[in-house]
Amino acid sequence: MTVDLFDSVAEAQPSREEIADGAVLLRGFVKPIESELIEAVRAIVAQSPFRRMTTPGGYQMSVAMTNCGERGWITDHTGYRYDPIDPRTGAPWPAMPPVFCDLARRAAEQGGFTGFAPDACLVNRYEPGTRLSLHQDKDELDFSAPIVSVSLGLPATFLFGGMARADKPRRFRLVHGDVVVWGGPSRLAYHGVAPLADGEHALLGRKRINLTFRRTR
Ligand code: SIN
Ligand code: FE2
Repeated sequence: MTVDLFDSVAEAQPSREEIADGAVLLRGFVKPIESELIEAVRAIVAQSPFRRMTTPGGYQMSVAMTNCGERGWITDHTGYRYDPIDPRTGAPWPAMPPVFCDLARRAAEQGGFTGFAPDACLVNRYEPGTRLSLHQDKDELDFSAPIVSVSLGLPATFLFGGMARADKPRRFRLVHGDVVVWGGPSRLAYHGVAPLADGEHALLGRKRINLTFRRTR
């Protein structure tokens, strides 16, 4: 087998790369269902639109967010929390589409976490220049379930650090279709996204959409 042929095979097959103890990067994992996912995001946003939330410290986040599932992650001047009601619409968040639940469970399984049943999905929209500073996902009541994070649209540089904010994060380029799963010893790892480079994605234009699946309790 030539190197070229090997490369094209490797590209066509989803791959599984361990990036830390309890963390895997699944390249191209959701590529086969990209249209269903994008359609589902459109339906969610039609019901609960993207909005830029305010941190407890009074800063407006550059990333715009919405949610689906039983509970949605929100932030305002009183703090961060999960809420079953979208404060913007006064109604429950849109239900989690079956295609979301299914991919989250399958991806978690690839990371060694069986039976993952997320009750929350945060939908992040990045435009060129927007970023998400290093943070831990720690507003959940139970850390036994992993985090499943799906990338769609423009490529991004994902920062994956250690258990302390000061630990120098490693950088991973995430492209459309990639999924990162972290749990167990990595569940509280610091992570973030570097400022998004400008570009044009064939399906999503000048943006990146990230889906973050969590079990909140
Ligand atoms: C997040 O940490 O909520 C999002 C990570 C990402 O956009 O890749
Ligand atoms: Fe996060």
